[in-house]
Amino acid sequence: MSKLEPLTEQELASFRIPGEVLRYLEIQREKLGLSRDQINVLDYGCGKGTSVAWLREHGYNAFGVDVERRYIDNGRGLLRARGLEADSILSMLDEQGRASHDKGFFHFIFSEAVFEHVPDLQQVMRELGRLTASGGAGLHRFPAHLRPVEEHLFMPLVHYLPKTRARLLWIALNLAAGVGPRWPELETLGLVDQARAYYKYSVEQTFYRSPRAILSTAQAEGFRGAFVAHQHPKIDRHPVARRWVRVPGLRGFASWLLTNFVIVELLLERPDGKASVRQVSS
Ligand SMILES: C[S@@+](CC[C@H](N)C(=O)[O-])C[C@H]1O[C@@H](n2cnc3c(N)ncnc32)[C@H](O)[C@@H]1O
Repeated sequence: MSKLEPLTEQELASFRIPGEVLRYLEIQREKLGLSRDQINVLDYGCGKGTSVAWLREHGYNAFGVDVERRYIDNGRGLLRARGLEADSILSMLDEQGRASHDKGFFHFIFSEAVFEHVPDLQQVMRELGRLTASGGAGLHRFPAHLRPVEEHLFMPLVHYLPKTRARLLWIALNLAAGVGPRWPELETLGLVDQARAYYKYSVEQTFYRSPRAILSTAQAEGFRGAFVAHQHPKIDRHPVARRWVRVPGLRGFASWLLTNFVIVELLLERPDGKASVRQVSS
């Protein structure tokens, strides 16, 4: 269901929170020795807050923030109907990207498919740094910058091209070949206007960065960070991949491959001198 439609009970009943978000949240909860209702969790870029509603239903003290009012409004109705304080649970970031929550309020912050939409990552990291408690952590998942097929336009290599006419031309060629999304609001337009609209979206709404650039932005705001996609439990269950990632050289290669070409799972920690989330998980 789209963020453009109100969240319903039916939608929530069939929703499953990403397994890795829950896994790292639980690791963090265990590390801090908190109960579910004591751990303050933030879904950064929450859309209409489906994950927030799911976490609340499962007893976590969860909140969500976003930059789009219509998405936030689409999530508040269900929370309100459940007798929750919808306006404080789902809230807007201000023009400077600041949340209304106090400094250091959150023990765990996650985001799902948000960082690739953020024009000013430094501003976001600064706010995540302000919101994260000392000893707090976060998991941020988003598509890798060299993913062969771009996640939103479903066109090969489109995000490899600079944001110039070359990209516009490539989008038009893809559309002419029948490759690309089919946004209902663009269906009445001709090919050139559709190409322009998809190009505008890719220029204004997508910002892919290398893992190195992302990590150094996080470190500059006081985080310790690591890419953890290769630690996914699915890999441990796979008969071949499991053996591969145990070989020291191949482990680094698997991490590089996943983080550059498939998915970024960035674990951020705000050091407090105690055991890290990764130490507790191993
Ligand atoms: C692809 S949606 C993902 C929504 C939600 N995380 C999910 O998994 O369903 C991206 C979300 O990021 C939000 N977003 C974009 N830029 C943002 C920013 N600078 N700060 C916070 N949220 C942002 C958008 O409004 C949108 O809700």
